[in-house]
Amino acid sequence: MTDLNTLEADVLAQVAAASDLQALDAVRVAAVGKTGSISGLLKTLGAMSPEERKTQGAAINALRDKVADAIGQKKAALEAAELDARLASETLDLSLPAPYRRKGSVHPTMQTMDEMVAIFAEMGFAVAEGPDIEDDFHNFTALNFPEKHPAREMHDTFFFNPKESGERMLLRTHTSPVQVRTMVSQKPPIRIIAPGRTYRCDNDATHTPVFHQVEGLVIDKGIHMGHLKWTLETFLARFFETDAVTTQFRPHHFPFTEPSAEMDVQCDRSGGEIKIGQGTSWLEILGCGMVHPNVLRACGIDPDEYQGFAFGMGVDRLGMLKYGMPDLRDMWSSDVRWLSHYGFSAFAAPNPASGLS
Ligand code: PHE
Repeated sequence: MTDLNTLEADVLAQVAAASDLQALDAVRVAAVGKTGSISGLLKTLGAMSPEERKTQGAAINALRDKVADAIGQKKAALEAAELDARLASETLDLSLPAPYRRKGSVHPTMQTMDEMVAIFAEMGFAVAEGPDIEDDFHNFTALNFPEKHPAREMHDTFFFNPKESGERMLLRTHTSPVQVRTMVSQKPPIRIIAPGRTYRCDNDATHTPVFHQVEGLVIDKGIHMGHLKWTLETFLARFFETDAVTTQFRPHHFPFTEPSAEMDVQCDRSGGEIKIGQGTSWLEILGCGMVHPNVLRACGIDPDEYQGFAFGMGVDRLGMLKYGMPDLRDMWSSDVRWLSHYGFSAFAAPNPASGLS
C-alpha cells in the first residue's frame, strides 16, 4: 500500500508540475500508457491470490482513476490557459489605421455591357433576358437550324447529359434564343436588346469558353436593312465616342437571318494599335440580318405582315477594341494588376447624361 501511496503522490506531483500539454501527455504515457507504471501494476494482478487481487485490484484501479481524473482536469486547465494566451496575443487594436487594400473596380466587360445598354436604352430598346441553360428548340430549332444539320456543330456546343426523355439541354451558344423567347411572349412592335453570357467549347487568344454578347431584335411593319444599318452605325459612333464611323456589310450566312451579313468597321491598324473611325483597314465586329420568315413563323408571327432585323455582337471583343486590351484571356485571369489598370470606378455608371467612360 505504501508503494501505491508513494506512486500516487509522485504521479500527481508530476501532473501538477506539467507546464504544457506536451509535458502532461508525457506524464500520462509514463503512468497509464501501455507500458506505464500504473498499467504495469495492473498486469501483476494475474499472479496474485484471489484475496490479494480483490484488495490490490480495487486499490490500483482507484489509483488509475484518480490519476486519469487529475490528468483530465489539468488538461482542461492548460487548454484554457493556452486559449487565454492566444486571445491576449491576437487582440486587434481597432484604433490603428487600416492597411492599404486595392479598391474594387468594375470589370471592363461589365463596363462595356453597361455602356451598350445605356446607348441602346436611349435609342428606345428594352432589355430582355433568357436562361444560360437552354433547350434545343430555343437555341437551334426555332432559329431555323435544320435538324441534324452541321450548322448545329458549328457552335461547338456544350451539351448536358441527356434527360430520361432523351432531350439534351445545353449552354446557350449565342444570345439569339432570347429573340425566340421574346417573340413568343410579346406582340410586335418589338424593340429589345439581350445582353448576356454565352458559351462555346473554344479557347485561344481571341476566344474564351465563356463570352458575352448583346443581341438586338426589332420587329415591326416595313422594317428593312436600311433601319438595321442606321441603328448599328448610330450605336457604333456613340460607343466609340467618335463622329465618323464607316461600316460595310459583308454577305454571310446565319440560318436565322435572310439576307445575313457581317458588319466591318473602318479602322487604322498602323502604329500597332487599332483606331476606329479612320484608316484603310476593316475589322469584323458583328453578325446581323433580316429575321428569317421561318423564325417569325416558328414564333407565331406572320412574315407577310411583320418584318424585322436582328444583330449579335461580342461584348468582350468590343471592350478590347475600345480600351486597347490585347488578349481576351486576361479578362478571366483575375490578376489584380490588370484589374486595377483596366477596371472602372463603380461610382461612374455609364449613362447618356454624364457620359460613357
Ligand atoms: N447569333 C449569331 C452569332 O452568335 C450572331 C447574330 C445574331 C447574327 C443575330 C445575326 C443576327 O454568331
